[in-house]
Amino acid sequence: MTRTRKKIAVIGAGNVGATCAFVLAQKKLGDIVLLDIYEGFAKGKALDMSQNGQVLNYDGNLTGTSNYEDIADSDVVVVTSGFPRQPGMTREDLIAKNASIVKQVGEGIKRHAPDSIIIMVTNPLDLMTYHMQKITGFPAHRVCGQAGVLDSARMTHFVAKAVGCSEEDVQAMVLGGHGDTMVPLPRFTTAGGIAITNLLTDDEIDAICQRTASGGGEIVKLLERGSAFYAPGSAAAIMAEAVLHDRKRLIPASAYLTGQYGLQDVYIGVPVILGANGIERIIELELSDGELSSLQTSGNFYKSQLTDILGY
Ligand code: APR
Repeated sequence: MTRTRKKIAVIGAGNVGATCAFVLAQKKLGDIVLLDIYEGFAKGKALDMSQNGQVLNYDGNLTGTSNYEDIADSDVVVVTSGFPRQPGMTREDLIAKNASIVKQVGEGIKRHAPDSIIIMVTNPLDLMTYHMQKITGFPAHRVCGQAGVLDSARMTHFVAKAVGCSEEDVQAMVLGGHGDTMVPLPRFTTAGGIAITNLLTDDEIDAICQRTASGGGEIVKLLERGSAFYAPGSAAAIMAEAVLHDRKRLIPASAYLTGQYGLQDVYIGVPVILGANGIERIIELELSDGELSSLQTSGNFYKSQLTDILGY
């Protein structure tokens, strides 16, 4: 019998993975399989979320597992397995530990969900997305990373507070790597269609850009154990929705560059069209010299990390 319901696997049932699964369930996007090395952890969270189906009006088609056979033929796989940051750590400090987890997960996905589209969340995001593409050997358009939706949402929040308007009216654009080198772009950020340069002072905009770039670190410091998960998990679910419903969302995402913005053989955050085929197009913006140079600095930083630390 042909399967008509979509299937989404979320790897890692921790804070980000469980949040993502919870948002996916509420959006009624399909059957959800939560996979973790700790089977009971995945099963327990899936059961708890399933029992919430009646309360929040969704079908409880969530299962937990530690067996990759259960993710067979998933349409989308969201990867959140890996260690989060602790206070004082950069995302790059996670490379060694998370690279081996991504390798193990990538081999499972390649074997059991060979036609899926992969959305990476594990940090350091741009490096782990590159690593996943190499491990699976999937075409690059089927492996992308969630960072820009989150970073833009953070910027959106700070802009909305500074302008005194609703988040709904703000559109922000943050490119580059998901780390200290990220590139918030005030010139491409609007509130109610009005460029924020018309609404806020240069100092206010600078402060917003800085707070956006260190937005994850601010939360790590406050939490004292672990890192942000509501917004990262939701952002990954929104990307899954774009793929599953072929929404052709124009959003920033970590994508494989082949010369765009003067960068190649690296994953970095750029504006893309995300639809049923994954990254369907990379949008090349006319950037100012300063903006382009910041994006290239970010791309080259991750390129050197790929070589120096991951050996690519
Ligand atoms: N296979 C499957 N699951 C794994 C594996 C593995 N090889 N290794 C670890 N996990 C699981 C852990 O058991 C844990 O449940 O990944 C989960 C990670 O959850 P948390 O520790 O709560 O971390 P979380 O906050 O969800 O962050 C996960 O996303 O945003 C990034 O930086 C963050 O890299 C981190 C990732």
